Amino acid sequence: MNVVRVTHGAVGYGDRTVLRDVSCAVAAGEVVAVLGANGSGKSTLVRAVLGLVPLRAGSVELFGVPQRRFRQWARIGYVPQRLGAGSGVPATVAEVVGAGRLARRGILRPPGAADRAAVADALRAVGLADRAGDPVSTLSGGQQQRTLIARALAGRPELLILDEPTAGVDAASQEAFAAALGGFVGRGGSVLLVAHELGPLRPLIDRAIVVHDGEIAHDGPVPEPAGHHAADDHDHVHPHCPDEPAGMWSA
Ligand SMILES: Nc1ncnc2c1ncn2[C@@H]1O[C@H](COP(=O)(O)OP(=O)(O)O)[C@@H](O)[C@H]1O
Ligand SMILES: [Mg+2]
Repeated sequence: MNVVRVTHGAVGYGDRTVLRDVSCAVAAGEVVAVLGANGSGKSTLVRAVLGLVPLRAGSVELFGVPQRRFRQWARIGYVPQRLGAGSGVPATVAEVVGAGRLARRGILRPPGAADRAAVADALRAVGLADRAGDPVSTLSGGQQQRTLIARALAGRPELLILDEPTAGVDAASQEAFAAALGGFVGRGGSVLLVAHELGPLRPLIDRAIVVHDGEIAHDGPVPEPAGHHAADDHDHVHPHCPDEPAGMWSA
């Protein structure tokens, strides 16, 4: 069964077409990375999968159901590309993670034992159990990102959709995130993940999709890092596109 299936999808903004003809899928239990240059349309692809931007052509199915009829959003956890730094909201880590339970319990019902257990589990999974009562604003950028991942995990989703979850995140947070994702996958979860550098995530990835020029340029094994980037601490991945200038993937 496919948890995500995009068939001949086209997406744009205004008179600009970003994705012309994209077909791809994520099977149940699979971890798929979406790679591509900045501006190639990776975020646009995951937002289209989630119905946050409309398709101009083609179709999306979620868990085998056409997206416009899909209602089981609690089956999907989503972490968008970046957390607005210093939003000024004095929420604690546990409150933010608890928001991940809203789709499960409904806004008007107070959190119960199952909600508290799910929040505690998610905080443990990302290594932030000891920060539960702290304001999010006191965390590092990487810890804030881990808080958002814990929020997605707290909903006990079957599919996680993550847009550059480790971009600009310190090494400790990358490792903590990789461990949390490994646990999620080990329990049968599926993942669609936009990434620029895979780093410690690399062993978890089953398949890579490379978005290039409005289409899928590659769908298969993770492309090998280009030679001059191949050092362990700089694990960029590049598509095999001979016309693509070196360094194009650098932020
Ligand atoms: N809301 C928007 N309105 C107009 N253009 C957008 C919007 N979001 C993204 N774009 C444009 O669409 C293209 C693809 O963006 P995006 O999907 O964010 O790329 P990526 O995630 O691969 O960096 C970029 O040229 C970007 O400027
Ligand atoms: Mg993006």
